[in-house]
Amino acid sequence: MKIFYNKIKLSVHIQALRAKGHSVGFVPTMGALHNGHLSLVNEGLEKNEVIVVSVFVNPTQFDNDEDLVKYPRTLDNDVALLTSVSKTAIIVYAPTVEDIYEDKIESQTFKFGGLEHEMEGAFREGHFDGVGTIVKRLFEIVKPDYAYFGEKDFQQLQIIRKLVELYQIPVEIIGCAIYRADDGLAMSSRNTRLTKEHRAIAPFIYKTLKTAKIKFGTKSAKNVAEWVEKQFKKEPLLELEYIIIADTRTLKPVKRKSTKKTYRAFIAVYAGDVRLIDNIALN
Ligand code: PAJ
Repeated sequence: MKIFYNKIKLSVHIQALRAKGHSVGFVPTMGALHNGHLSLVNEGLEKNEVIVVSVFVNPTQFDNDEDLVKYPRTLDNDVALLTSVSKTAIIVYAPTVEDIYEDKIESQTFKFGGLEHEMEGAFREGHFDGVGTIVKRLFEIVKPDYAYFGEKDFQQLQIIRKLVELYQIPVEIIGCAIYRADDGLAMSSRNTRLTKEHRAIAPFIYKTLKTAKIKFGTKSAKNVAEWVEKQFKKEPLLELEYIIIADTRTLKPVKRKSTKKTYRAFIAVYAGDVRLIDNIALN
């Protein structure tokens, strides 16, 4: 498998592939890869001869230094996993912080039409400026035809669509379904940090979301959110940070339901010191 640590060498290689008429897909990641990431890679391989996977723990999107330090870094294992998917069609880009940021580790400030102020934007200061900065830079380096993002981070996916529209970046964004463990827990690099007890109780999050979806058929958004809050109060090992039922397009919390709109429930929960997020389509 080809691994690049330098953006210029990577671009030269990609340009040569493109000259042969290859379509280039891109899956940006922060590494600690799992089957959720691999599902994006596999979807990419259906449409593109080449998939570039970036592995970079982006410092500017962490609002908490401890979270950044604790973020798992497992490049050898990541490469082994990707090799098991394809030895020839996948290229890894694992840059250093300097290769991306040179001597200025700073985010650009973005306005994503208000999407950036909701949910993760409200709870994680500066997070989406960091995400916008890194993804825009990676798009400039890789110049992909298609880029794959998980619905696991649904707000991020919508923000990337907005980024591409605002800066007229010539890439098609593909949203991919949430990949879950057999017990329903959404796969996440953070799951490896859960204690045994927290890992055992964590499927409660998706279980509650599924029931919330059923309730949303007959009840108001406010009622459903209150019901979810009540369920988490009964579960001492999990601490609910937020449950928000929002318009899929604007991500604004629902006031009154309309049959013309689609909605999602978004949740963030602490299991010990590990913060987990998940979401579900409601209609
Ligand atoms: P990371 O958390 O590594 O996720 C990389 C991509 O994998 C994201 O698009 C994310 O939504 C997707 N993903 C993670 N778990 C998934 C699951 N269980 N099912 C489906 N997709 C899943 O998201 C980031 O990194 C960063 O913010 C990044 C975009 C790379 C910018 O630094």
